[in-house]
Amino acid sequence: MEKVIEENKQGTSLVLEQKESNTKKLFIESYGCQMNFSDSEIVASILANEGYNTTQNLEEADLVLVNTCSIRDKAEQTVRNRLEQYNAVKKINPSMKVGVLGCMAERLKSKFLEEEKIVDMVVGPDAYKDLPNLLRDIDEGRDAINVILSKEETYGDISPVRLNSNGVTAFVSITRGCDNMCTFCVVPFTRGRERSRDPQSIIKEIKELHERGFKEITLLGQNVDSYLWYGGGLKKDFEKATEMQKATAVDFAQLLDMCATAFPKMRFRFSTSNPQDMHEEVMHVIAKHHNVCKYIHLPVQSGSTRILKEMNRQHTREEYMALVDKIKAIIPDIALSQDIIAGFPTETEEDHHDTLSLLEYVKYDFGYMFIYSERPGTLAARKLKDDVPEAVKKRRLQEIIDLQQKMGLERTKSYVGKTVEVLIEKESKRSDQHWAGRNSQNTTVVFPKGNYQAGDFVMVKINDCTSTTLIGEAVGYSEMQS
Ligand code: SAH
Ligand code: F3S
Repeated sequence: MEKVIEENKQGTSLVLEQKESNTKKLFIESYGCQMNFSDSEIVASILANEGYNTTQNLEEADLVLVNTCSIRDKAEQTVRNRLEQYNAVKKINPSMKVGVLGCMAERLKSKFLEEEKIVDMVVGPDAYKDLPNLLRDIDEGRDAINVILSKEETYGDISPVRLNSNGVTAFVSITRGCDNMCTFCVVPFTRGRERSRDPQSIIKEIKELHERGFKEITLLGQNVDSYLWYGGGLKKDFEKATEMQKATAVDFAQLLDMCATAFPKMRFRFSTSNPQDMHEEVMHVIAKHHNVCKYIHLPVQSGSTRILKEMNRQHTREEYMALVDKIKAIIPDIALSQDIIAGFPTETEEDHHDTLSLLEYVKYDFGYMFIYSERPGTLAARKLKDDVPEAVKKRRLQEIIDLQQKMGLERTKSYVGKTVEVLIEKESKRSDQHWAGRNSQNTTVVFPKGNYQAGDFVMVKINDCTSTTLIGEAVGYSEMQS
């Protein structure tokens, strides 16, 4: 997730350090992108001050919160099934309260409370600081709803607690919302307009994580390359800023440079990069710092210029290819990944083949591939008929996945025989005798534990691979190990 939906994390409930004075129990579960998981940590921190400790046991909860995703219909259906399960528990424990957070709360608003009457509280992504008031509303028998989207809110002043993490890698959000209005996407409607967070609060949060032993930070936003701090306010209002504000503004290249310079023993990643906003300065910052990972998630959505235009993406196929060429020239050891949508309205076989040939051209290390899912209210839903038959969508998706897998295997094979730097994150899922971590290029590396510990930076010689994983043996610490 990075911002991308990681299937194995969906529905994970969050457990934080228990405060002894807290008497109530919160069960909080998250779906969707990494931003939601990150937001849930903010929510849990706010509620820790309201008397709630987290629990993983649904049956004992006083308050159940589900942080929801609207990106595709399937994501919403998963949450709907979950809400039914909560309601079954509620029959046994009637004092339990249920709240919906995140994008579905924003998209469906009062529908949950008024028509379906299946929840007690509905809270949009910019309203979490209002949770204490909303809980009082429930207690006093009022409807508890706040779906107001904000121009300012970045939660910069709340330091999220992260105790169920691996203690090695953490996400720090730097922008919220999105201004791009890709025609297929609900995010601009559910998460509001784009705004950036104060760099000082970002650095402060990273410093705290550094002091607690974290080694890798992923800077998070819908469109990180568009980051722009000029004292607060919406990105689109930058033009109205004073000359002084403009002169002292901080953009993404500067922010990344600041982070990498201030914390030389920490690794930095970022996600997601929109091709239209990825500029040369950022590439130079990536190339300049050893501790900025050589990896860019660069969603393309389609390889056909005609479809890109229908999607309101701000670039052509050729411009995207030129951008990839430039990135590879400036950062030769870069890894790239993609998001692709199969079966966008009006997509022909020719458009689909443009996507396949683009895949071959770029040789992405991996990717996240989806079938087009029409989202109510988006421009595509209003203007274009969802006219590619389901079977055709599925076949095209499979062809894209198969080709990506082939490209991925070529890329992982190219590491065999080489030695790569790995930050150890956790035990391998397959064996308690092996560590798992990632190299700078974001590929998972698995190797025998030896005397190394989670959080160590080690050099690993790669002996074997699958299409997504490198297998090797540690040959010593890296220069990043302090
Ligand atoms: N800019 C955001 C994108 C969030 S959505 C970010 O990367 O942070 C993540 C991905 O979901 C998109 O890149 C797109 O490939 C996919 N997606 C979005 N809306 C979709 C839809 N209606 N149907 C299918 N896939 C969709
Ligand atoms: Fe969605 Fe496009 Fe923004 S995919 S999140 S509208 S960049």
